[in-house]
This record gives sequence, C-alpha cells and structure tokens, in this order.
Amino acid sequence: MPAIAIIGAQWGDEGKGKATDLLGSRVDYVVKFNGGNNAGHTVVIGQEDGSSEKYALHLLPSGILTPGCTPVIGNGVVVDLAVLFEELDGLVARGVDVSRLRISANAHVIADYNRTLDKVTERFLGSRRIGTTGRGIGPTYADKMNRIGIRIQDIFDEKILRQKVEGVLDLKGQVLTKIYNRRPATVDETVEELRAYAERLAPMVCDTGLLLNQALDRDEIVLLEAGQATLLDVDHGTYPFVTSSSATSGGACTGSGIPPTRLDQVIGIVKAYTTRVGEGPFPTELNDDAGEHLRKVGAEYGTTTGRPRRCGWYDAVIARYAARVNGVTDFVLTKLDVLTGLEKVPVCVAYDVDGTRHDEMPVNQSDFHHAVPIYEYLDGWWEDLSAARTFEDLPANARAYVEAVEAMSGARISAVGVGPSREATVVRHELV
Ligand code: GDP
Ligand code: IMO
Ligand code: MG
Repeated sequence: MPAIAIIGAQWGDEGKGKATDLLGSRVDYVVKFNGGNNAGHTVVIGQEDGSSEKYALHLLPSGILTPGCTPVIGNGVVVDLAVLFEELDGLVARGVDVSRLRISANAHVIADYNRTLDKVTERFLGSRRIGTTGRGIGPTYADKMNRIGIRIQDIFDEKILRQKVEGVLDLKGQVLTKIYNRRPATVDETVEELRAYAERLAPMVCDTGLLLNQALDRDEIVLLEAGQATLLDVDHGTYPFVTSSSATSGGACTGSGIPPTRLDQVIGIVKAYTTRVGEGPFPTELNDDAGEHLRKVGAEYGTTTGRPRRCGWYDAVIARYAARVNGVTDFVLTKLDVLTGLEKVPVCVAYDVDGTRHDEMPVNQSDFHHAVPIYEYLDGWWEDLSAARTFEDLPANARAYVEAVEAMSGARISAVGVGPSREATVVRHELV
C-alpha cells in the first residue's frame, strides 16, 4: 500500500488537522514529520447527541483522535517534552486512548536554552523579526544542522546526555550571558529537566522508520501529516519569513524515513482565501474591511499564539506553485462557507511586478515583496453551504467558484470544506 502525504499549500492553518482527522478512520498510521509545537490544529468532532467536541493539537499528530490509528512522531520533528506530556495528559483526561503513540529515537528535543534564544533573538531583531511562535523551533533546528542537537535517544543515557548538554551550553551559555544578558539554565538543571521524562518516554520510543516501512510492506496505509506549509518551508517558502523545517512533500520522506518511491499521493490543503500569521510578504493581503470580514467570519485567530491572522483573497499563483513543489495529486479546498454573502469574489490569477506580468512565483524575493495581484472577479452566492454534502448540493455560483479555482491551481479539487466539523465536507473524489 502507498504512503499518502497531507501538506499545507499556503502559509499554514489551511485546515490540515481537519483533513487528517477526516481520513483517520481509513488509515493505519498518521505521522507528524516536521515542526513541533509551533503547529496548531483545531479538530471538531460531531457527537452522536448532536453536540461537538473541539480539540486543539500542537505537537501530536491529528490521527491521535482516531480510534485504532497509530500516531507517530517522526525523526524530522522537534519535541518539547513538557508540551508532549501536557498534551497527552489533556487527551487522556478527555477519554482519548493515547497508548499507541510512537516517537522516533532520532527526533530532536527542544531544550530550555532554545526557547529562551528564540524569544530574545526576536526581540533583538526588532523590525526585522520573523514573528515566530517563540517555542524554540528555529534554534533547535539550527542545533540539529550544526550537529550539536540533543536527540530523544540521548535522554536515556545520562552520561551521553550530560556530555552533549555541556558541549552545547559551553557555546550557548556564552551567547545568552554575553550578548543577551540572560542567565541560562545550568548543565545540571537542563539534564535533570530532560531526564525527568525518561521513564514515561521509554515505552513510546522506537525506530519509527522501520515501523512505518514494515507497515507499508503489510499493505497498511500511512498518512504523513505536515505542520506549517509550502510558503513557510525553509527551502521553498518566503525565506527568511519561514519556519525552520521542511514542510513540503520532500520533507515527508526525510522526516519519516519513508522513501520517495513509496509516496504516491500528495493531498494539498488550500483555503478558499488566504491567511498568514507572523511577518513576511503576502500579495493578496487585505488591510481593509474585507480583510476584517474574512477574519471575523472565518474566526482567523491563531490556535497556538492567539494572534489575529492576516487575511486576503485566494492566490492561484501560490496554489500552482504548491502543486508543483509538492506534486499535489488532490487539493482539499477548505472554508468555502466563509465566502458566502459576497457580491463578487476576487481571485488572484497572476502578479504585476513593475509593469511585468508574472504567472509564476517571481524568482527574486524582492519582486514578490512588491507583487501587485491581478484579480479575476467571480460571482458570489448567498445560500448557507454548511449542510451541503455533495457537489450538487452547492449553489451554482459556489460550484462555479470551485471549478474556476480548480482550473487555475494545477490539480483537481477532490473535497470542499463547508464548516469546521468532520462531517461538513463535500467529497468529489474519494481521497483514500
Ligand atoms: P491547520 O493548522 O492547517 O490544521 O489549521 P487550523 O486548525 O490552524 O485552522 C483551521 C481552522 O479552520 C480550524 O479552526 C478549523 O476548525 C477550521 N476549519 C477547517 N475546515 C473548515 C471549513 O471548511 N469551514 C470552516 N468554517 N472552518 C473550517
Ligand atoms: P500550522 O501547522 C501558521 C509561522 C510563525 C512565523 C514563522 C516562524 O498550524 O499550519 P516558528 O515559530 O515556526 O519559528 O515561526 O512561521 N508559523 C505558522 N503559521 N501556521 C503554523 O502552523 C505555523 N507555524 C509557524 O507565525 O511567522
Ligand atoms: Mg494551524
């Protein structure tokens, strides 16, 4: 059986968590392969009595909510152990079975000095800041690349852990004290903090690459769930206004140990409009009443930091770029219901950069910074979409919007979101 990747096609918060949850019952493993607790996935599950349960996940893969599915934290993830156990305890208190969780021995650990460094560097950068989530993500990936990171497996050997912490604090302690005037945690404090989790952690840790490849050998289905998104990817995003991991489908392989030859479906999650949290260029951004309208109707406030998300119209140039970079086979277009009640719905089809039309992402980042969207104006609709379950249930203009966007975006739109709950989805082509 093939592996399937779910990736964000814009700047994050496209509704990846809901999409993963939707497919959860049909897959055997859900793997988080990049990022850490900078992610925020809201999943809403309708109950038999008509009420709904809302979960906010940061570090755990959304598949943890599906009975029978094995959630995996892959080698490409950076793990804050305090957050891991807080999130697990929160789910257990709500009756969720978390016993199947498996964690890669090669995943890196976010230590206290990296959380501090993330925050103080942002303050130091001032107007050049990235607008990070402050969770220590960037400094921890920097340590990984710098070959001074602490891995999950190091926690089980106190001698090795101490050696590694001593090495890294030799360097980072100086930076924190001399540049930022901060007292870092001592070697003893850091080792103690990390060792405190060893006993609870041990039964979850394994060679997850082996586990997943053996599952594929047995014809089981493995779903690889991205945190963040294409335009936040450290290679393919709007660098330097990106996160520090590989959030695209290539990252799904390196971050899980599943080879590219076993990945045969890539599902791109794309919002019917665009949002972004943090700093950086955003051509279709609306700094007016229309942007405020999208933020209000779409409840566009960050799941992780609570920051208001910047809002703008759908950008087909970005969708085509995401389709190309990831090899998207199917798009899930989310939050179509939020566009209800607009006379005309603008869609960006290309950019104007200093009088030149760009149908693809400009090569040069500075051009992207002052790209002016060229809009096509599609007819709006007034009907409530939330009860639609088939494409035919949608009003004609909403169908026309989906078809127009599909024609511009480089892959078929196989499902459409019409509300936050798992059930509020129109499926055009079965995804698994
Ligand atoms: P993720 O980070 O990609 O998993 O997305 P987030 O969970 O951060 O943000 C998506 C938000 O939109 C969540 O609050 C979801 O409950 C909600 N959502 C997802 N799909 C839909 C949809 O089709 N319609 C509406 N109205 N809300 C949706
Ligand atoms: P999900 O998985 C939206 C943004 C931050 C900041 C930049 C770098 O919910 O889609 P970091 O803390 O990662 O070093 O911050 O990336 N960012 C996200 N924006 N959704 C996310 O995750 C994000 N994770 C990071 O706002 O601009
Ligand atoms: Mg999110």
